[in-house]
Amino acid sequence: MIMLPRVFQRETGAVLVKHRIEETLFTADRIQERVEELAAAITEDYRDRSPFVMVGILNGAFIFMADLVRQISIPIEFDFMELSSYGSSTKASGVIRIGKDLGVDITDRHVLIIEDIIDTGLTLRFLERDLAGRGAASIEICTLLNKETVNKVDIPVRYTGFNIPDRYVVGYGLDLAGKYRNLPYIAAVSTDGE
Ligand code: IMP
Ligand code: MG
Repeated sequence: MIMLPRVFQRETGAVLVKHRIEETLFTADRIQERVEELAAAITEDYRDRSPFVMVGILNGAFIFMADLVRQISIPIEFDFMELSSYGSSTKASGVIRIGKDLGVDITDRHVLIIEDIIDTGLTLRFLERDLAGRGAASIEICTLLNKETVNKVDIPVRYTGFNIPDRYVVGYGLDLAGKYRNLPYIAAVSTDGE
């Protein structure tokens, strides 16, 4: 049993913000069940496109991707990108910066993007356009979570683990200001004052 503090305080500017873990949305077992289903679908769909390139988006997707790929039984090549959007820790700004770029050439390759969560969709819209510009043969998106956000941009998502309400969530790779990624379950946190 992981014992992380359920209340977490941090300073943003001069303000002290307090966060509280409110409720578990998906247990570790429920996540594994869904990951197995997604892996089965990907194995089936990509059989004729293998070896395809799986691009994990750092840092959040690392746990999801690690669990997912161990359930996939066709050849895969892996790479990672680090993307960040400017803004506060809980609100996206839409301005995306590439921290770490791909190491492989994806020209004429089939690419499957692995993301932890889609909120506004701005990050993945940026990435999809960027990778399309590099001449990928196909680009699909697999996200563990997709938020029911009011102002969402339209992007085609091939595989979704769970649709969730518009709440800030942590655990299973997802963070709040760098914390909580190591929780084995996914929980909603309060983000009072932001
Ligand atoms: P988007 O560009 O608005 O779709 O934001 C996507 C990125 O914001 C994700 O890759 C996460 O890094 C981060 N993000 C959005 N919502 C959450 C959340 O509820 N918990 C943790 N990270 C989030
Ligand atoms: Mg992310």
